[in-house]
This record gives sequence, structure tokens and C-alpha cells, in this order.
Amino acid sequence: MPKLERLPEPNIYQAYGIYFLESKHRLIRRLKKAYQPSVHGHKAWNASFLLMDYLQHEPLAKRSRVLEVGCGWGPGAVFCASRFKARVTALDIDKDVFPFLDVMAALNDVDIAHMTSRFEKLTAEDLSAFDVVVGSDVCFWDKMIKPLNRLVSRAFDGGVKRFIVTDPGRPPFYEFCDLARKKHDVELMEWYATEPEYFAGEVVEIRPKRKRKRKRKAGKAAAEKR
Ligand SMILES: C[S@@+](CC[C@H](N)C(=O)[O-])C[C@H]1O[C@@H](n2cnc3c(N)ncnc32)[C@H](O)[C@@H]1O
Repeated sequence: MPKLERLPEPNIYQAYGIYFLESKHRLIRRLKKAYQPSVHGHKAWNASFLLMDYLQHEPLAKRSRVLEVGCGWGPGAVFCASRFKARVTALDIDKDVFPFLDVMAALNDVDIAHMTSRFEKLTAEDLSAFDVVVGSDVCFWDKMIKPLNRLVSRAFDGGVKRFIVTDPGRPPFYEFCDLARKKHDVELMEWYATEPEYFAGEVVEIRPKRKRKRKRKAGKAAAEKR
């Protein structure tokens, strides 16, 4: 159980050491009058808490360079910057999410760089600036399955070491995992978060396929001995 902490004002809640604003918080109400995210980036989604819980168990190396794709309000980005002192860039197709992300970042005393772009546009060279790519609830339409898979391949071409996606368990997400398995090392796990409340879903950790060179060498040496 986490230590009981008094929250600084009403309509704020805490999960995994991060402060969040509820939609009825005065700042969010004010921001919503000026900015209307239109591709579902209008709150912190539950899959983001799965990402935080998973990273608590499988932490990032300190000061990793992290890209959060489809960041929305940036819960994953803020968590990585706060917990691991990661250098984080948050990317979203919808520029209207960033005022909310900025408030989240300020509330949690972290700095997050922004990028307004679709993840389809990132090249291997762009991705070479990162060690880890994370995303929560970013594979919710069938048309996202292939582009997200191509993004994984480009990320590994660029030198990214870990690609982590969390999801409530929608069909396109499972198809994404099946497709990724053809080219990469894929570990799909049922996972649950306990904060701010119980929520169960899925985590996939994708890594570049391990080279089998050493094994082959060992096999060759054994054959020569015989
Ligand atoms: C369901 S929300 C999840 C937001 C955040 N990751 C979370 O867990 O709270 C999906 C986000 O992905 C963004 N998005 C959708 N398609 C995208 C694309 N092709 N490239 C980049 N972002 C995209 C949306 O604008 C939205 O902010």
C-alpha cells in the first residue's frame, strides 16, 4: 500500500506517484473550453496505469531517452520523466492534447518535449534519438495495426531497444502483437494496475530479435570436437 498523502486541492488524484487532474478540476474545465482533442486524447486512459505498473516491475535505465507515441495527456511520459528521470518526448497527431500535457507536466514538476506528428511519419533516423518507445491505448482501430508494426521495425532499425504498448485488450491490439511476432521478440502479458483503482489489461514488450550467432558458433565447435 502506498503512503497516505494529503492532496494539495480538490479534484486531484494520485496514481503511481503521479498527480492527475480530474475532468471537473477548474484548470481542465478551462482548458476544455479552448482545446478539444478529437482523436480520443481527452483524458488519461486506464491503459496508461498498466504502463506505469509494468515499468515499476521492469524499470527503464536511468535517464533513458523515451518517446511516448499517441501521448494524449501524457501520463506515460510524465511517469517516465518523474520516476526514472528519463528524457522524454511526447508525440501525438492532435496538437490540442498538448496544453493538457503541459499542465500535467507542471503539476508533476517534469519537462516533456512535444512533437505534433502522426507516428507513421517517424523515420528510423528520427527514432534513433530514443532508447525506448512506449504507448498506451494506441492501437484501437484496425487501420492502426500495420502502421504501428512498421513503426516498431523502423524503431529497431534506428537502434531503439524496447518497444512497450499497453492496452485494455481490444482486437486490433492482439492483431498488432501477432504481426510483430513474425519479425521481433514479443512478450505479451496479462497485467493489472492497482492505482488509482484495479484495472486489468495487456502489456506487450517487443525487442529486436536476438541474434543466434553465438549458439551457431557453439554448435559448430561441438561438431568439430566430435
Ligand atoms: C486512446 S488515446 C490514449 C492517450 C494516452 N496514451 C493515454 O493512455 O491516456 C489515443 C491517442 O493517440 C493519438 N493518436 C491516434 N492516432 C495517432 C497517430 N497516427 N499518430 C500519433 N498519435 C495518434 C490520439 O490523438 C490520442 O491522443
